Amino acid sequence: MKAGVGLFSALALFLLMGAVLTQRPRTKKPTKRPATTRKPAVPRPPVPAPPEPQEPTDFPPLILGPPSIYPDCPRECMCSPSYPTSLNCETRNIRVIPVIPARTHYLYLQNNYISEVTAEPFVNASEVRWVNLANNRIHRIDKQVFEKIPALLYLYVHRNQLKEVPPGLPSNLEQLRLGRNVISKIPAGVFSKMANLTLLDLYHNQLSDSGLGKNTFKGLKNLMQLNLAHNVLKKMPDGVPSGLIQLYLDKNRIDDIPKDYFKGLPHLAFVRLNYNQLSDKGLPKAVFNISSLLDLQLAHNQLASVPLFNSHLEHLHLNHNSIESINGTLICPLPFYGPDAVLGDDILAPKLRYLRLDGNHLSPPIPLDVIMCFRHLHSIVI
Ligand SMILES: *[C@@H]1O[C@H](CO)[C@@H](O)[C@H](O)[C@H]1NC(C)=O
Ligand SMILES: *[C@@H]1O[C@H](CO)[C@@H](O)[C@H](O)[C@H]1NC(C)=O
Ligand SMILES: *[C@@H]1O[C@H](CO)[C@@H](O)[C@H](O)[C@H]1NC(C)=O
Ligand SMILES: *[C@@H]1O[C@H](CO)[C@@H](O)[C@H](O)[C@H]1NC(C)=O
Repeated sequence: MKAGVGLFSALALFLLMGAVLTQRPRTKKPTKRPATTRKPAVPRPPVPAPPEPQEPTDFPPLILGPPSIYPDCPRECMCSPSYPTSLNCETRNIRVIPVIPARTHYLYLQNNYISEVTAEPFVNASEVRWVNLANNRIHRIDKQVFEKIPALLYLYVHRNQLKEVPPGLPSNLEQLRLGRNVISKIPAGVFSKMANLTLLDLYHNQLSDSGLGKNTFKGLKNLMQLNLAHNVLKKMPDGVPSGLIQLYLDKNRIDDIPKDYFKGLPHLAFVRLNYNQLSDKGLPKAVFNISSLLDLQLAHNQLASVPLFNSHLEHLHLNHNSIESINGTLICPLPFYGPDAVLGDDILAPKLRYLRLDGNHLSPPIPLDVIMCFRHLHSIVI
């Protein structure tokens, strides 16, 4: 009975999608841009877009903050009595970091023209937990800075001109954002004592295979998010920490994945490899058959067939590859026929809910065996 109902709803879904996908626009007048593709429903990752300060001939003058009740409040900053531990100095055309009051825990210095971070302003600021220096022109951070602020937990230095990971980072650090700099090499040992780091963002730098060593990520025992997207890697990075949940490698030049690459990563749930050079040849047959994986993104590669994946996978992005056909029986992660067939059981059925296949050489309708295997599928873009 349950099987009957399930099959019926699967068929209904199939018919519904067939109807939607084969529907032709009935407009008589040709519009400028006929809407032929359906927009994906998933939110895109947020693109940080504070404006880059333009290079002026003369730096714009410092913008002063309001008068403050705190005698130690730097004049270019704002010290709010409601938040005595915050120092707000963002977007004030600052070129030299002012002396940071000792009471500061949260320090906002983003969107300025700071080019160097030296230890002097931090001489009494030993309580600082959070520093945002994003979107400046920083090319150097003195090692001694971090000796002054040992309690630091969050360091945001994305959108700057750093050529290397700042030296002497405190071992308590939990989040480190270094995206959009010009880092090309990370020497071994830089992160070795940072056992509390959970997020490491190296997005949009110039890291190549030789810029990362076998032991670069060694010691990052609590790392959960690693973002190496938009670099120039040809190989999957070596020695990524075993606790990883998110691994982002979009926009590199990776063309193959070693067979057991994901074996030592039992918590890995989100893998992004969009915009690489992966083809069927570079993908061992069951490399993505990992039961922890929930979201796999392989858009804009050169795959000709749908890779095998596990029944726990919920989101799969395969748009803009070279896929010509899809065989639901073959890719169904669970037995399709025979006594163990999952067709009748909603609980056991593969968890795939969202599938993107647009930008391939496929056309609707979606094969019936796909619909029958993936009973939880509620959105498919073809
Ligand atoms: C740091 O604190 C000491 C002791 O409170 C004080 O004498 C000194 O002036 C402070 N330094 C700065 C740069 O504020
Ligand atoms: C890491 O976090 C734990 C628990 O919050 C803390 O006890 C420890 O001192 C921190 N630092 C390092 C380096 O482990
Ligand atoms: C995929 O992994 C499951 C265990 O999670 C295993 O039972 C199955 O045989 C694997 N499939 C392939 C094709 O390797
Ligand atoms: C799909 O794959 C199965 C198993 O390999 C095969 O028996 C079947 O003929 C294929 N279906 C199509 C439409 O190619």
